[in-house]
Parts: sequence; C-alpha cells; structure tokens
Amino acid sequence: MSFNILGTGSSTPKRVVTNNELSAFLDTSDEWIFTRTGIKERRVLTDESLIMLSKEACAKALADAGVMGSEIDMIICSTVRGDFISPAMACLIAKEVNPNCRYFYDVNMGCCGFISALDMADAFFKANKVKKALIVCAESITRLCDWQDRSTCVLFGDAVAAVVLGEGNSMRSIKMSVYPSYENLYITASTGNNPFVEEKFSNDYIAMNGQEVYKFAVSSILKDIHEVLESLGFASNDISFYLMHQANMRIVEAVKSRLGLASEKFPCNIEKYGNTSSASIPLLLDELNKANTITKGDKLLFGAFGAGLSTGVCVLEWCK
Ligand code: UT7
Repeated sequence: MSFNILGTGSSTPKRVVTNNELSAFLDTSDEWIFTRTGIKERRVLTDESLIMLSKEACAKALADAGVMGSEIDMIICSTVRGDFISPAMACLIAKEVNPNCRYFYDVNMGCCGFISALDMADAFFKANKVKKALIVCAESITRLCDWQDRSTCVLFGDAVAAVVLGEGNSMRSIKMSVYPSYENLYITASTGNNPFVEEKFSNDYIAMNGQEVYKFAVSSILKDIHEVLESLGFASNDISFYLMHQANMRIVEAVKSRLGLASEKFPCNIEKYGNTSSASIPLLLDELNKANTITKGDKLLFGAFGAGLSTGVCVLEWCK
C-alpha cells in the first residue's frame, strides 16, 4: 500500500515584484526576462517568515483533505534553507500541526525536493509506518540570491506548498536520478569566522551556469519521463497533465514538443511566481486542484530537475 494525495494548500508572500521593478536597479528588462523565461513577476519574502507561510499552507491542505493535524504521523519539509539552519523546518512545522507527530525530516534536494519527499513517504507507507503524512515544500530562494546578479536573481521567487497524503494505491511510479556534479548549480556554505581556516567563504549566493543546466534539464528529464512511461506501459498521451518544475517556460515547451503533445497538457504558472524551487510543482498542483481543472481519475506526471544535478519523475492518479 502506498499513498493517495488527499489535499493541497499553498501560501505565497504578499510582496509582488514585477520585472519592471527589477529593471529599475539591474541591467535587465521585462522583455528579456519574459521572452527568455516566461516570468512576469514573483513573490518575495519581506517581513513574513517561512514558518508563517508554512502554517497557512498546511492549514489549507489539511482543510482540503478533511484531516486533522493530530492525525499526521509524519512531516517531511523540502527546503533549501529554512528560517533557521537548525532546527529543521519539520520540527517547527510539527509545533504548529502536531507536536506528537512520530517522524519529521527536512530534505534538501533543491528543485527535486517534492518528488524526493514523495519517494521517502512512499517507503514509509509501504512499511506500514504511517497512515497520514504531510509534505511541505517551503522555499525562500530569494534570500539566497545575489540581487546584483541579473543572471540569477530575476529567475526566483518564494512560496510554500503542502500536500496531505493518506494510505492508498494511486501512486504508480517514482524515479529519482542523480548525475553528481555541483559546478553548474550550487550555493557555497560559509566557513564562518573560524580562526583556524585560512581561506574563508562567506558568500552563500546561488551560482548557476544557466545554459548548462538548461541542456541538462531538457535531456535528462525527457530520458526519465520516457523510462517511467515505458515501465508503466503508458504512451505519453495517456498522461492527462504534466506538471513540470517551473524553472523556464522554454524548458516546458521543449519537453512538450519532444513528446509531441498539446499545450493543454502542460499547465504553467511561472508567469506569476518564477522559479520557486521544490514548491513549484505542489504550488501548481494546488492551483489546478482548487480550480477543479484536475478531476478524479486523471493521470498526473510530476517532473523536476535541478541541483545535484538531479531529476525526479512521479506518476500518480488523482483520486479526489
Ligand atoms: O531550478 C533550477 C534549474 N534551473 C534551470 O533550469 C535554469 C535553466 N537555464 C535557463 O533557464 C536559462 O539558461 C536562463 C534563463 C538562466 C538564461 O537564458 P539563456 O537564453 O540561456 O541566456 P544566456 O545565459 O545565454 O545569456 C544570454 C545573454 C548574455 O549576454 P551576452 O553574453 O549574449 O552579451 C547574458 O549576459 O543575456 C544576458 N543576460 C541578461 N540580459 C538581460 C543574462 N541575464 C540577463 C538579464 N537581463 N536578466
């Protein structure tokens, strides 16, 4: 027995930052950002904390699922960096949702964090260790951007999105892959002021070779999608909706055209939120759920790629 998704919820910072606002202090333009990425605006954490947004996203997901916080056995939080380096966000979320929760973990898998968390949850459900789980993708990537680097800061936004899982058989397949290399996408960890370290690092900004990551993303995610579909005996058209990581509209277009599918199968919201790392797929899922765009029986494919370099694909049937 694996899991079903019982409910979804999300919360985004109130501050909207448009492309035009960025061009006021960076050598960039709405035209460049929109045509190269599909992004028009993003949400940026200002006076809110990630835990405040997480509390709201979890409450909405629990209400949508009709589940009480006290029923949650496991919390997995996907985050590149929470409000604190320690304690883990999962512990802070447990305080809000269910302090008696049995298992609580943070995963730091960048943009693949949602699929990674689903993969972990699958193992716990199969081992009969949990009956209800909460996955929270809480990302504050704008805190890790160098706001003087136009090649990265224009791409990212902040968001929290949560899903409630319960026992069920709607999950069909999950595949995570790693192609270990950090050079094209990384954030250095500060060495602090340790007097015994001669070469100190204090920069903890995102560094990315966009073109290399772009090539990796398109080729690797397509390979994984083909493998997962083949293992299930599905044709690409059997999938009702492909929910791709919202990093760049052109990556979504490339995947869509290589699979020879219609745009309707590739819902997107990158225009409003930019790249919100692991929150991007569950944020999109929440929008589609709340708009009743997805209906019971639909087959969904989640596809993510990012730091690691890693990819993740999950196919499941929507059963709400
Ligand atoms: O979520 C993690 C995974 N991340 C991704 O999947 C990101 C994958 N990569 C991408 O989405 C794209 O590579 C980017 C959107 C990051 C960049 O688009 P690109 O078409 O690959 O542009 P580029 O890096 O080749 O840059 C083209 C030009 C350069 O100028 P020159 O050298 O041609 O004169 C850049 O300096 O655009 C310049 N440029 C900008 N110009 C205006 C780079 N950033 C900007 C900017 N505004 N914000």
